[in-house]
Amino acid sequence: MPTPQEMLERFQDSYALGDETIDHTHREFLELCLAAANAGGPEFAGAFKALFEHTSRHFADEEAKMQASGYPAFGEHRANHQRILGDMDRFCQRAVAGRAQMARAWLNDSLPAWFDLHAKTMDSALVVYLRQQA
Ligand SMILES: [Fe+2]
Ligand SMILES: [Fe+2]
Repeated sequence: MPTPQEMLERFQDSYALGDETIDHTHREFLELCLAAANAGGPEFAGAFKALFEHTSRHFADEEAKMQASGYPAFGEHRANHQRILGDMDRFCQRAVAGRAQMARAWLNDSLPAWFDLHAKTMDSALVVYLRQQA
């Protein structure tokens, strides 16, 4: 699985979906993943919290687009968001409480794999739909 750094390096070829706002948000997401992964001990919790808050807005913005356009797979896409945001929230709380080890492992191992698949399937399908509606 590519790291967030590698995903940013090959963003245009592998992750750009053609929606300016969503692509911009996804670059920011990867930059915040990278910043958290590189954050040293005392800075980790704050960096992880910044990622969590950004992800919360990222998902809310996509969900607003889905609702406004009557997107048929809204429920499934939102459920996937809610699952990952719930995990991120729990790891964020642990990190803020000084227990960063599991949050770091999740950030390094699970979150990049989730983003890779989610961007290439659910977000990609959403962008195709939005383009057809325009
Ligand atoms: Fe997204
Ligand atoms: Fe999404």
